[in-house]
Amino acid sequence: MTELITLPVTTWDQRITTAQQDLAIDALERGDFLSFPRLPFLLQAGESELLTPSIAGKAKNVSLDPTTGSLRGGNLNEADHKRLQSMIHRFAETSRALLRNLLPHYETGLKQARTSFRATEIAGRQISWRKDDKRLHVDSFPSSPTQGTRILRVLTNVNPHGQSRQWRLGDSFEGVASHYQSSLSGPVWGSASILRLLGVTKRRRTAYDHYMLQLHDRMKADLDYQSRSPQRACEFQAGSTWMVFTDLVSHAAMSGQYALEQTYHLPIKSMLDPSRAPLRILERLLGRTLA
Ligand code: SIN
Ligand code: FE
Repeated sequence: MTELITLPVTTWDQRITTAQQDLAIDALERGDFLSFPRLPFLLQAGESELLTPSIAGKAKNVSLDPTTGSLRGGNLNEADHKRLQSMIHRFAETSRALLRNLLPHYETGLKQARTSFRATEIAGRQISWRKDDKRLHVDSFPSSPTQGTRILRVLTNVNPHGQSRQWRLGDSFEGVASHYQSSLSGPVWGSASILRLLGVTKRRRTAYDHYMLQLHDRMKADLDYQSRSPQRACEFQAGSTWMVFTDLVSHAAMSGQYALEQTYHLPIKSMLDPSRAPLRILERLLGRTLA
């Protein structure tokens, strides 16, 4: 079961000892969480006005594309748009500094993906079961196949009223995969090319992506699994930060409002131990190459 490893990091550019770096990378790769209870992301003048649920418009959240610097989602006038862009961009840079210090082994492989601002209260949000992150799942996205590349996420709770973000943590990846193994079916021949051709996927959906998506959907659709599988509750206080491989660790976000999140992609050859990647675990279980 996933453990929460607490690290006494209180500033984003803090020097971190080699012993702590070794502990951090090993914990993440084996499927534990890194928690930084006293690592707040400080807002600048005028930014607290951005903490309103209407900021995302109809979207679940507002996100920044690191390659173009443009915002997606959001319902904003020009001044707020600029301020929001600047706040999200600063979080992207700040989280990057932490990773540089904490995980130097990943430095050359790490690719910064989207940065998001999550302004909607999770509890009570009306959303389809497949998109409902209140259900335990491993991260896998229909239009963005990773082809085996890892998904590492850094989140920080910026709630101004002291409201914590409540998650559930589920079974190990091996546990999840073996639970559903007998019900998994392989991709239909030719489907990856058709999805790519139609623009449904941004790149080729490999067999790995196909199985990950199936796991994601099987877990979320299975209410019995949601209530009976091994799990524990976990609370992230306002002013705290946490980090986890969300493709490996089954998780659900139950309640909370106002968080910033940065996604990173990491090729599995950049891992300390690539055999612990979900791709390798699934390949061992299914006895075939998947990407
Ligand atoms: C998720 O990755 O499932 C949601 C995380 C969150 O918004 O707390
Ligand atoms: Fe998720």
